[in-house]
Amino acid sequence: MPGQPAAGATHARGNAAAVAEPFGTAPDGTPVDRWTLSNGPVTVRVLTYGGIVQSVEVPDAGGRVTNVVLGFADLAGYVEHNNPGPYFGALIGRFGNRLAGGRFTVDGRTHQLPLNEGPNTLHGGPEGFDRQVWTTTDVSDGEVAGVRLTLVSPAGHQGFPGTLTTVVTYTLDAASRLTVHYEATTDAPTVVNLTNHTYWNLSGEGSGNVHGHVLQLDAEGYLPIDGTLIPTGESAPVEGTPFDFRTPTAIGDRLRAGHEQLVRARGYDHTWVLGPTGEEELRRAAVLHDPASGRTLTVATTEPGVQFYSGNFLDGTLVGTGGRVYRQGDGVALETQHFPDSPNQPGFPSTELRPGRTYRSTTVFELPGDVRAG
Ligand code: BGC
Repeated sequence: MPGQPAAGATHARGNAAAVAEPFGTAPDGTPVDRWTLSNGPVTVRVLTYGGIVQSVEVPDAGGRVTNVVLGFADLAGYVEHNNPGPYFGALIGRFGNRLAGGRFTVDGRTHQLPLNEGPNTLHGGPEGFDRQVWTTTDVSDGEVAGVRLTLVSPAGHQGFPGTLTTVVTYTLDAASRLTVHYEATTDAPTVVNLTNHTYWNLSGEGSGNVHGHVLQLDAEGYLPIDGTLIPTGESAPVEGTPFDFRTPTAIGDRLRAGHEQLVRARGYDHTWVLGPTGEEELRRAAVLHDPASGRTLTVATTEPGVQFYSGNFLDGTLVGTGGRVYRQGDGVALETQHFPDSPNQPGFPSTELRPGRTYRSTTVFELPGDVRAG
């Protein structure tokens, strides 16, 4: 009978859905929606403003559902405080992390971007993708809840060459996997490095710091940075340093170790080198476990690096989604991406995108609720 679930359907079948509701108006007058993706016990909320992941609600080992990502309760919070600021949950483009001097050269032509962090450009500039309103369509199919976001960034936007068309798809499947898939095309040679900037606190946002969370990073090397947080170009072995997370280690264990690189960034704010990988090949990058709640986040990606940022610049001045203030270390970002400043670093994998080619990237955030309904 049409419309009836097939025999043997899983509990979640037919349960997965994406629903949009109005969420205010952007400063330029564009209406903003909030999408709610639900699948079994997991609920993810995504804003059309900045493609921001506003909340991720998952059960803990005892079945208690909590929002485990940092954010703001309303659109004004994001408009006023997210950039400059923490970039909570946002899609970052056109170029994640820093470009030294806000400059890069493609095909012999040098492009100067607006600077928004001292001498550098951070996260695509002051009006990056995190501040744009994306158009959206529902791509749910009954088993997977999904929303597709599209943004056409005109040539010259924030100083970047080429009209860049970016399509990002968020899907939430019945195994509590939030997959973020990125595609981008251009009509002129340019550079692209997209990521998502979600901060995790697996005990629940606003519950205090994550120094007790145990982290594993599948990387033998990391990228040391200079005084303005630009990679020096060298890849250093993690062996024997506070950067060695090859075996699960509490984030707070070595934060105060007195290592020069940790002082420079006020904590962890570095790229871990995941090793060579093909576009299509997903590999595990990180596992974050919170002994207090029993929640575990596993991150897999096609990207060559992951920026582990320990929330160093959260300073007690922002009130989060649940009405609590965020302080240093209250959340951690695991940003899968190409290396910072790649266009200016001949030794790094290329971030160039040319007409006729498609930029493709996938990252999977897996948050198994041990207790699935049913
Ligand atoms: C950067 C940090 C920065 C944060 C918020 C991270 O991706 O690595 O240095 O403070 O974003 O802007």
